[in-house]
Amino acid sequence: MAKILFGVSGGIAAYKSLEVVSALRKRGEELKIVMTEEATKFVAPLTFSVVGKCPVYVEPFQSIEGSVIHTTISQWAEIMVIAPLTANTAAKMACGIADNLLTMSALAFNGLKIASPSMNVRMYENPITLENIEKLKKNGWHIVEPESGHLADGEYGKGRYPKAELLIFEIDRMLTPHDYEKKKVLITAGPTREAIDPVRYVTNRSSGKMGYELARAAYLRGADVKLISGPVNIDAPYGVEVLNVESAEDMKRAVLKNAKWADIVIMAAAVADYRPAHISTSKIKKTSDELNIKLVKTDDILKELSKIRLSSQFIVGFAAETDDLLRNAQKKLKEKNLDMIIANDVSRKDIGFDSNYNEVKILCKDGEIISLQRNEKRLIAHNILDTIKSQSFKEF
Ligand SMILES: Cc1cc2nc3c(=O)[nH]c(=O)nc-3n(C[C@H](O)[C@H](O)[C@H](O)COP(=O)(O)O)c2cc1C
Repeated sequence: MAKILFGVSGGIAAYKSLEVVSALRKRGEELKIVMTEEATKFVAPLTFSVVGKCPVYVEPFQSIEGSVIHTTISQWAEIMVIAPLTANTAAKMACGIADNLLTMSALAFNGLKIASPSMNVRMYENPITLENIEKLKKNGWHIVEPESGHLADGEYGKGRYPKAELLIFEIDRMLTPHDYEKKKVLITAGPTREAIDPVRYVTNRSSGKMGYELARAAYLRGADVKLISGPVNIDAPYGVEVLNVESAEDMKRAVLKNAKWADIVIMAAAVADYRPAHISTSKIKKTSDELNIKLVKTDDILKELSKIRLSSQFIVGFAAETDDLLRNAQKKLKEKNLDMIIANDVSRKDIGFDSNYNEVKILCKDGEIISLQRNEKRLIAHNILDTIKSQSFKEF
C-alpha cells in the first residue's frame, strides 16, 4: 500500500482524475488529495473525498491538529501525483512559486514525483509551457505526456488527459523497485496459427496472459522488454515493444533474429507442434464426407535457440502438460539445455489457459524445484522474475 499525495489543478479534465483516484482507492492505496481553488470550480472537493475515501485539502492557512498542512502532507507521502497539471501550475512550479496549497506541497515534496499536463493544444505547444515542463523533468518530475486527439473545446491536437490505466501503470512503475534496470528481456507469448487454407487454421488454447503479465512485470521492474506475440485478444503492455507473428515459422524467425539482443529469454508461447504439410491457396470446399489433412512437425524453437545461445544468457522455457508434469518438464529442461522451466498443469480448469490464475512449479537447472501456489498470473509473473533474478545474474 502506497501513500499517495494526489494533486488536482484547474483543468477541464479534472473530472477524469476521479477514475484514477477511484481505482487507486479500490486497490487499497492510502490517499490524500490537494486541489487548487480553480480545480474546485470543475469538481467539488466533496466528490474527490467520497470517491477517494480520503481527506481533500484546498486552503493552506489552517492546521491539521496543530501542524502546518503543506509540510505535513508532503512529508507523509511517498509519491506525489499531479493530474491534471495545468499550464499555470506547471509555470509556477518551474519557477518555485508556492502561492497555494498544491504548489507549496509540490515545492516541499522530495519523494517520487509524477505529473500529467493536459490543456488546449496551443497552450501545450506554446514554447513557454514546453520549457516549463522540461524544467520540471530536470527537477525530477516524471512527466506522463498528454495524448493527441479531440480536445474539450472542439480543437484537435496534443493535450488530452491520458487513459487512467496508463497513469496508474506509470505510478506503479515509479513505485516498483527497478531491480531489472538495464536487463534486456525477450518474451514469447500466445498461440501460433498454422494455416490450412486462406480462411482456416490449426491453433491451440493459449490466451497469452502469462507471457503478457511477464512482459508487463519485467517492464515495471525497469527492464527493456521485447514481446514476440502470437494472435491474442490482450492489449499490448505499456512500454513494451510488441512484435506480432502468426505461425510457428514466423515466431521462430522473430526469436532467432532477436535472441542475441537479450540477457534473458522467456519462452511462454504455446507454439504449435504440427502444421499442415500443404497450405491450400484457395478455400477448401465442403464436397467430400471426410477430409484428411496431413500434419508435419514444426521446428523446435527452443532447440534452435540452444544452438546459438550465448553462455551469458539465461533461457527459460514453459511446459504445459496434462500428464506426468514434473517428469515431462524435467526432460524438456535437459533436452533443450534450458536454465529453468516453468511447469503448469493445463488439465485443471481453475488455472492455466484463459484463466487469470496459475499455479506453477519452477524447475531450476541445479535440481531445485519451487512450487508457487495458485495465484493471479500478475503475481506469479513477479515470483518467476524473482526466481530468475536469484538463479541468474550475480550482479542483479
Ligand atoms: C473552461 C476552462 C477550462 C480550462 N481548462 C484548462 C486545461 O485543461 N488546462 C489548463 O492548463 N488550463 C485550463 N484552463 C485555465 C486554468 O483554469 C487557469 O489557468 C487557472 O488559473 C488554473 O489554475 P490552477 O493552475 O491554480 O489550478 C481552463 C479554464 C477554463 C475557464
